Amino acid sequence: MPVQRTLILLKPDAVERQLVGSILSRFEQKGLKIIDLRWLRFTQELARQHYAEHIAKPFYSGLEQYIMSGPVVAAILEGSEAVDVVRRLIGSTNGVEALPGTIRGDFSMSNQQNLVHASDSAVSAEREINIFFPKREY
Ligand code: CMP
Repeated sequence: MPVQRTLILLKPDAVERQLVGSILSRFEQKGLKIIDLRWLRFTQELARQHYAEHIAKPFYSGLEQYIMSGPVVAAILEGSEAVDVVRRLIGSTNGVEALPGTIRGDFSMSNQQNLVHASDSAVSAEREINIFFPKREY
């Protein structure tokens, strides 16, 4: 099984609700390694870059306001098949539909304020890691 890296964001609702430690520990307990971690605030430019594929969607302006509404935590996670493992751990986009035991299933009731973002493919992971951690020497 290939060791992969993936990008997660703990979004403003996760920080506001003081769930950063609880959510990060889910990933660590699973066996994923935190390779890097930083706090940041989204600008409009960063939102458009990160969420480029969603710009034309009807929910984009709400998404932009939400992601810029407070600080977020970005992290690189590493492990076997990390992209798919992390996507399964966070659950479906809509917290109402996400299965119990997943992060969104346990902590979210919203399809926008869903606490965590995770790269949806190895190609996206590469792109997103380079956006948030551009000067890596590891
Ligand atoms: P994320 O995994 O970060 O990817 C895109 C984000 O857009 C998603 O999580 C949600 O926060 C948001 N999103 C996706 N679909 C909808 C929707 N139908 N209505 C509102 N927000 C959405």
